[in-house]
Amino acid sequence: MTDAMIDKARGNIEKSGFKNIRVTKGEATLIPLDDGSVDVVTSNGVLNLVPDKEKAFAEIFRVLRPGGRLQLADIVTRENVQAACGIVPQLWADCIGGASVEKDYLDMIRKAGFRDVKVIDRIDYFAQSPETTRRLTKTFGAESVVISARKRASASAD
Ligand SMILES: C[S@@+](CC[C@H](N)C(=O)[O-])C[C@H]1O[C@@H](n2cnc3c(N)ncnc32)[C@H](O)[C@@H]1O
Repeated sequence: MTDAMIDKARGNIEKSGFKNIRVTKGEATLIPLDDGSVDVVTSNGVLNLVPDKEKAFAEIFRVLRPGGRLQLADIVTRENVQAACGIVPQLWADCIGGASVEKDYLDMIRKAGFRDVKVIDRIDYFAQSPETTRRLTKTFGAESVVISARKRASASAD
């Protein structure tokens, strides 16, 4: 993210009058928060852009408190885009170049330690995209999914 985005977010918070919001700049793969310090992590359209998703999910798991929840929306695919196309910056900018195959994506979340990993909604994110993008996203079966998961409350609880 850019500093201009951070400034805009801080400006909007100021205008909103809310006093319980803080903006902290950080990397998804190195979250500048303490272990177990977060109740809920939400994310929208970010992780498809992160090359090391396993590290990002490990970081999300680390900062969540026991019993904490993850809810995110992201682009996933049916076919492996990178295996077919390699690393293509334009495809990354279109949010499909770095997207994972759905099963691999869900497996990464489980491998990070999350329980009850569920796809709770599917959205045709590319419905309004130009025809060329639509054709490409259809070829790879790209769509947006909403996923929920939780961190176990304690070592003995399930
Ligand atoms: C498509 S935008 C989505 C923005 C916002 N969540 C929304 O719904 O409008 C992708 C965002 O991911 C952020 N991003 C990409 N790679 C990141 C990383 N490694 N760590 C943290 N944020 C990252 C970008 O800065 C950008 O703000």
